[in-house]
Amino acid sequence: MTSNQPQNPVSMPGRDRFTSGLGVLAATLGSAVGLGNIWKFPSLTGANGGAAFILVYLISTLLVGLPVMIAEQMIGRRARADAINTLRKLAGRDRRPWWLIGAAGCLAAFLILAFYTEVAGWVFAYIFRALTGAALSTDPDVTSAAFSGLVSDPTQALLWQWIVLILITAIIIMGVSKGIERVTKRLMPILFGLLVLVCIRSLTLDGASEGLTFLFSPDFSKLTGPVILTAMGLAFFKLSIGMGTMITYGSYFRDDQNIPATASRVMLADLLVSMLAGIAIFPAVFAFGFQPDAGPSLLFITIPAVFASMPLGQVFMVLFFVLAAIAATGAMLSLLEVPVAVLNEQFGFSRRKAALITLGLLALVGSTAALSSSTLADFKILGMTPFDLFDYVTSNLLLPLGGLFVCLFVGWAWGWPEVRAALTNDGQLGNARIARAIFGLTKFVSPVLVLIVLLNGLGIIQF
Ligand code: PHE
Repeated sequence: MTSNQPQNPVSMPGRDRFTSGLGVLAATLGSAVGLGNIWKFPSLTGANGGAAFILVYLISTLLVGLPVMIAEQMIGRRARADAINTLRKLAGRDRRPWWLIGAAGCLAAFLILAFYTEVAGWVFAYIFRALTGAALSTDPDVTSAAFSGLVSDPTQALLWQWIVLILITAIIIMGVSKGIERVTKRLMPILFGLLVLVCIRSLTLDGASEGLTFLFSPDFSKLTGPVILTAMGLAFFKLSIGMGTMITYGSYFRDDQNIPATASRVMLADLLVSMLAGIAIFPAVFAFGFQPDAGPSLLFITIPAVFASMPLGQVFMVLFFVLAAIAATGAMLSLLEVPVAVLNEQFGFSRRKAALITLGLLALVGSTAALSSSTLADFKILGMTPFDLFDYVTSNLLLPLGGLFVCLFVGWAWGWPEVRAALTNDGQLGNARIARAIFGLTKFVSPVLVLIVLLNGLGIIQF
């Protein structure tokens, strides 16, 4: 346990920061908004009881997601260090290895990037396919063959992943304020604009209302144990928590940033993007009589066929994949920043070197994910291709573990005086009540709920 008086650890001299409140919001929202909004949220909602699922998702977000996001941001800002050093600094004389939270987070961020960059690569490839009209066909069999052609061609799979890797590495090398902040501040408004445009197109199609019914009509009978756990898992992935991302971004927050207010806004805006994505997709899918499939096939097989069916479809398909690429980019920047900050601050590499080392390692490990549908299709670890393994290990193991231990650290090791000081900006803000609530949730409620998700994910308890 650290002393009762909140302390301000000394941070690295010359450390970069986000320069404005808006910049913090853009970067953090950029991290939360990602491919999760574009197909995970809409397809899970549609398949699992519509508004009933959204309600459970919201409750999970409020009881677990938001408190953990706030907890991560506040410890990051207090320590002003990378994910590993944050825990090391704040643990003080406590000899337990809390820094492992940061190390596991760094590993999780790396492994998520290994497969996320591949999916992002497909999205980028589809912008060009939409531009040339190559992926446009109203026949799902044709769009399906086109998608298989992309993922099962090792050269194309690797090429698009590397394009994505080089792009995000270049932005990260530019720095926190001049890279991440500047880019997300420009891209986020474009993302909202494009999303609204595609929503209007979708809603004005004949037969659009069936899609809205599919998405929103509440069906409480669908709320079984696994569905509730899925909603909770989604809340985790959506808010980019449990892998050091929010700790790292928190370490660049301004001293006067109101963390609970920022986190709540990000949560609400992220929810809005998810809803809009659902509204952009399902009315159109139903209007043309397609099946509301889940996962990659919705994005890369159904959606191109839907766009091919509508007037001006090619234009809207370009807009749609550009917005998906923007969403994926903000999320990837936040993931890449975690290992880069660690290499930079733990090992003393320059930012550029740290980014290039991570790029090299990612090209190596990520290529096993990229080749999972071609050269390495028969290479299985624990019965899974590398792509599926990275997804499984991170979502079901590393993220919940990270979230659980962040709660345990904040609630039981760091303690109330520190939390109050961190969330009221050392007494400047009248947030004491909110701080109390967040502290109570991270100490008692969130860890229990996370533990349930974790044990279920591992198959140790079944619902
Ligand atoms: N929140 C992102 C999404 O919804 C994914 C992500 C997870 C980003 C973890 C960063 C860290 O797609």
